[in-house]
Amino acid sequence: MQGTAPGRERAGTEVVRPLQRGLTVLRAMSRPGREKARPGDLVHATGLARSTVDRIITTLGRIGYLRFDGQEVALAPPLMELGNAYLSAGGLSDALADRVVQLADTFDESVSLAVPDGADVRFIAQATRRRTMSLAFRIGDALPAERCAPGALFASAWEESGWGAWRARRAAGSEEENFPPLPASHTAGTGTEAGFRRRCRQAGKDGWSLDDQLIEPGLIAVSVPVRDPAGRVACALSVVSHTSRHDAGQLAERFLPRLREAAAGMESALAAGHQPQASAATAPEALQDGRGAPAGKGELGSGFLQSLARGLSVLRALGEARDEGLPLSALATATGLPRATARRSLLTLEALGYVHCSGRLFRPLPRVLELGYAHLSGLSFADLVQPHLRQLVDRVHQSASVTVLDGEDIQYVARVHTIRIMSVNITLGTRLPAYATAMGRVLLAGLPAVERSRVVARSDLRALTPHTVTSAAPLAAVLDEVASKGYAVIDEELEPGLRSVAVPLRDAHGRVVAALNVAQHSGSEPAEETRSTLLPLLRLTAAAIERDLRIAARHHRIRLP
Ligand code: PHB
Repeated sequence: MQGTAPGRERAGTEVVRPLQRGLTVLRAMSRPGREKARPGDLVHATGLARSTVDRIITTLGRIGYLRFDGQEVALAPPLMELGNAYLSAGGLSDALADRVVQLADTFDESVSLAVPDGADVRFIAQATRRRTMSLAFRIGDALPAERCAPGALFASAWEESGWGAWRARRAAGSEEENFPPLPASHTAGTGTEAGFRRRCRQAGKDGWSLDDQLIEPGLIAVSVPVRDPAGRVACALSVVSHTSRHDAGQLAERFLPRLREAAAGMESALAAGHQPQASAATAPEALQDGRGAPAGKGELGSGFLQSLARGLSVLRALGEARDEGLPLSALATATGLPRATARRSLLTLEALGYVHCSGRLFRPLPRVLELGYAHLSGLSFADLVQPHLRQLVDRVHQSASVTVLDGEDIQYVARVHTIRIMSVNITLGTRLPAYATAMGRVLLAGLPAVERSRVVARSDLRALTPHTVTSAAPLAAVLDEVASKGYAVIDEELEPGLRSVAVPLRDAHGRVVAALNVAQHSGSEPAEETRSTLLPLLRLTAAAIERDLRIAARHHRIRLP
């Protein structure tokens, strides 16, 4: 027998090149600073031919995973579907992420969950409270096991093959190359295998481990294991702080008992078999929308790499895996692909380290998170909204904005403007009275009845122009109409000459979380014409933003301003 791993050998003959190359491009774009790149840069970064890169980015653009911005392409939030497939399949995120947020509130310190990823450690949940200058990692970021507290816990159970993989990773490149989130050049005696083994033995014996500034000066952490019902370490729960608040010993003394108690609670939650979210929320949209499903090549255009799209649809479908995984037949059914096609994709994904196969069952691995997840999960609400506003403005040539409700006011959180038509200079953070603006009315109309009346009662309903609706009863009627029609129009109620059309932005639960508008001069055409031109485009834009929000918020909270 040759020493080749059976998985490799099987996959070696069957690897789906377009899928392999598409993933190479996504990995290249996941490196810090490359999330937006010119095709030529990608040719350089991947060594692929320009025509190949072009076909790959056309395909990924069509699926919605990349967005075109002038000469550049950028990672787009729908790509998070892939990482979401891993996070949903593991079930850890659904079962434990809310507890991480609660713990961070109770401890008033950062708290995270990390899983083993080969010889690395990868974050799957984060609730940060960083006050002092220090790094904050994002979901999807990886750290070398020897440079963090969770690593020693995981490595304490490694057999020789685990140590072999660790040595191979260390030999394969510099830390800065392999772990972009790490700060350069701080090694603090973590370099030797003997030193790391010592910390692993200690962690194994004590059942917890300490990071005393292994990553950067000042950054300290304590981790405990969280075990699955079979007794295997599923993830590590960490509390993270800074030496300006505690020294490492104090951090352990102060938090270890509570951390252990929290880990025990998490283990009970895992044992109780936390129910994953209803499948309407978990089912990747792609399975219903035909991306990657069988379709005539002509329909998709000649530049479209169907086998890349199909491979990614298989990866998305793995999000439905629970426990040990899904069999090939289930994946073929879910994606609508022939078994042989689904199988080739799976073997390719397995060979690349994204999928685990045991017996007949397949499940996604944490490495899937390396595909853009850290960058995209770090985007703010405004970051998510901005490219859509830009696209809308490019079409309508009028200013567009997104606001949220804050008390009786709307507050601007994103804006792309053309010409200035208002007397006030609107910048991010600008506040305007909700009752007299189209976005405000959309936001008020989206509130529960009691809350809506309370906000209106508190509002100072002044006539800002002769047209402003200033009494409560007519305003209530207007708001009811806005709620039922799903949009608002104001014409010269806030300012003479100003007309605005607004629609709501809803979260995955259907709650109105923000409003989107386009504003223009009222002089040039009848209001009805403005409404009928703008409304369909506003609705299309809102739907695209809502889709991004739904995917991006699936496994972490996107903070509204
Ligand atoms: C983190 O969550 O940022 C973290 C966790 C463990 C460490 C270092 C950082 O050892």
